[in-house]
Amino acid sequence: MALLPILIAPDKRLKQKSTPVSRVDGSIRQLMDDMLETMYAAPGVGLAAPQVGVLQQVIVVDIGTEQDKHLHAPLLLANPEIIHREGELPWKEGCLSVPEHMAEVVRSAVIKIRALDHNNRTIYIEATELLAVCLQHEMDHLRGILFIDHLSRLKRTIILQKLKKAAETKE
Ligand code: NI
Repeated sequence: MALLPILIAPDKRLKQKSTPVSRVDGSIRQLMDDMLETMYAAPGVGLAAPQVGVLQQVIVVDIGTEQDKHLHAPLLLANPEIIHREGELPWKEGCLSVPEHMAEVVRSAVIKIRALDHNNRTIYIEATELLAVCLQHEMDHLRGILFIDHLSRLKRTIILQKLKKAAETKE
């Protein structure tokens, strides 16, 4: 396993669309393992492949043992699709690619998704609360959407300017 560098907004790669995985083979499993290690080290509860510069539809999620213990976290998923959603749920979100900023986003309260697991098997997951929020957030990344894209233009601009400034002072 290896730690991968996490891209920080406004990196252009975070705005691109990822392509579906044709099948979850050894190299995709390796990517999933590396992403999981990177996410735990950060630490975070979810990570999408474009955040490590790989434009493929792969996400990893582990919300710990707070809920849905029967799901045996972590989840390592390819080509996730929402096949059912209902309700609304506001949640204060953060993102490893938008460090040190949090904001409330309204997500669907209940979702059902279809995805490929790490063994290339089709699985269905029904999620609520933090798990539902996290899955929707990571799936947004696969379409080049960050949680700040759900905010007003003004709020988004302020956050992006702060991130740019922080990156400049680091150099
Ligand atoms: Ni994120």
